[in-house]
Amino acid sequence: MTEKEELRRKIFALKKEKNAIILAHNYQRDEVQDIADYRGDSLELSRIAADTDCDVIVFCGVHFMAESASILSPDKTVLLPEISAGCPMADMIAADSARNARTQFAGFEYHEGFTYPPEFSLKDIKKLHPGVPVVTYVNTTAEVKAESDICCTSANAVKIVESLDSDKVICIPDKNLSAWIARNTKKEVIAWDGFCHVHERATADDVKSAREAHPDALVLAHPECRMEILEMADHVTSTSGMLRYAQSSDANEFIIGTETGLMYKLKSDNPDKSFYPLRKDMICPNMKKTSLNSVLHCLETETYKIKVPEEIRVPAKKALDRMLEVK
Ligand code: 13P
Ligand code: SF4
Repeated sequence: MTEKEELRRKIFALKKEKNAIILAHNYQRDEVQDIADYRGDSLELSRIAADTDCDVIVFCGVHFMAESASILSPDKTVLLPEISAGCPMADMIAADSARNARTQFAGFEYHEGFTYPPEFSLKDIKKLHPGVPVVTYVNTTAEVKAESDICCTSANAVKIVESLDSDKVICIPDKNLSAWIARNTKKEVIAWDGFCHVHERATADDVKSAREAHPDALVLAHPECRMEILEMADHVTSTSGMLRYAQSSDANEFIIGTETGLMYKLKSDNPDKSFYPLRKDMICPNMKKTSLNSVLHCLETETYKIKVPEEIRVPAKKALDRMLEVK
């Protein structure tokens, strides 16, 4: 038996013994995707975490994803195999700031199209726009979710904004997703200056060179990409949205504008089609931290437990539940 087979055997045995479920995001390493009970995008994995009757949820992803699982399923043991697997975008916005709001806002006047820089916290923005609902991308901390009216993912962001009875919305923290929402709704979008460093890396020149190299390929882009890319793309959608689109499309070639981990399932689901990464270096280092060894260690030692304090969990759950109710 190879070392990998041995690791898999031990993981499956422990998983059964502990009545655990393994969830893996579409960006995880190939070998981690292979041992998962479910792999998917943020929305799909949140739904599974909310509905599972297993005792333990092993979340192969980044910190905010395990936190969401714990918020939705507080009675389960939620484990994140690599405690340092965070999402830099999630850390770009704080729920609160220690600064004196009156000093901070002295002379500040909001104008349409302005995007808030990190000097402001979510509480600061709310003070400046009383009554305007806050739509929070799931790539945020539990504290930020707790200050929000409703969450969204890349799969449902426009639908969520459209579901709100307000002609103005605050969308945090991704400026690219917010710009995409603004383009697809008549509502005014008050945005934040956050971004994903993996998607932000790609530019229009990358699309041009990929199209020159593969003239028959369709360009699929994640809404975390810059607007210049979203404007050039044939289809803009979440990671699982790309999986569905590639499978149902008549096209045979695709340029993939997201983290390269998605290529594994795209290729295995569609062996007769060709997939090219928009950039080979669109790799999320945090998503790649989890390995078979860390999953085994996590099941053996029940580390790292992710638990959100009740005073944050309850309001954060309201925002997540409200999102999950939008069909
Ligand atoms: P999806 O919800 O589309 O899978 O995206 C999650 C993410 O972190 C994108 O960078
Ligand atoms: Fe965060 Fe970007 Fe990594 Fe997704 S790909 S987890 S948004 S850093």
